[in-house]
Amino acid sequence: MQLRNNSDHYGWLAILLHWGMAILVITLFFLGKYMVDLDYYDPWYKAAPDLHRSFGVIVATLLILRLVWRLSNVHPAMIGKPWEQQAARWVHRLFYALIIAVVISGYLITTADGQGVSVFNWFEIPASFQGFENQEDIAGEFHEWFTSILILLVGLHALAALKHHFFNHDTTLSRMLGFSDSEQIEQGQIEQEISQTTSYNHHNSKE
Ligand code: HEM
Ligand code: HEM
Repeated sequence: MQLRNNSDHYGWLAILLHWGMAILVITLFFLGKYMVDLDYYDPWYKAAPDLHRSFGVIVATLLILRLVWRLSNVHPAMIGKPWEQQAARWVHRLFYALIIAVVISGYLITTADGQGVSVFNWFEIPASFQGFENQEDIAGEFHEWFTSILILLVGLHALAALKHHFFNHDTTLSRMLGFSDSEQIEQGQIEQEISQTTSYNHHNSKE
């Protein structure tokens, strides 16, 4: 498998970044929900937020890498009806925007009292902004809202991927898993062309 994307395949780096970030973001969501309910005497009371913040910084780093890679690579042609392609494009943009918003709000919660963000006790990102009153609570509210919207969107995105795979039998999911071969892609494209021609004929016959 090649490193870079081409017009119908994802390269291995885009695939690795996609699934690596997907696993991290979904795990961080559940870790976040779990840790805010812990009581002071729980052994995870301190360790869980430490891990949450450290992996959050890893997500931020991967996001930068991914954006650079995304902008310096072609994007494989999208499969599906025009409205589906447009919806997918907006969901992908929203993912990037929401992850940035989640990371910034997380940073603002942690640094509200002047404390830096320690990454696996290895190095610390300094607190550089204590700008508004009740920063911790307000940023916390935003963090909760952004992460809820993010996880809803992930559910929708995963359902759309499964629909492409099991109902449309196209290569949307398999090429993101690195399984696609050119025969399958041709088959997907032929099916797409047939369905577009059929809906075009159907539309014209009604006029
Ligand atoms: C994509 C990455 C992230 C996801 C999905 C995520 C998710 C969550 C969730 C679901 C909660 C629980 C919210 C609630 O129910 O109140 C939470 C809490 C929290 N997160 Fe994140 N988070 C991420 C990144 C970060 C980062 C980068 C930081 C800090 C640098 C951070 C710091 C915190 C803190 C301090 C809390 C506790 C808030 C409180 O006590 O109300 N998070 N996170
Ligand atoms: C936090 C979780 C996830 C995020 C943030 C995410 C984000 C993205 C983004 C931004 C893209 C656009 C391609 C790119 O820029 O690299 C994409 C593509 C894709 N994702 Fe996800 N994803 C997540 C989870 C999932 C899951 C759970 C599935 C499947 C069950 C999935 C299946 C796909 C597929 C099949 C594509 C390719 C779409 C195409 O080629 O048109 N993703 N994802």
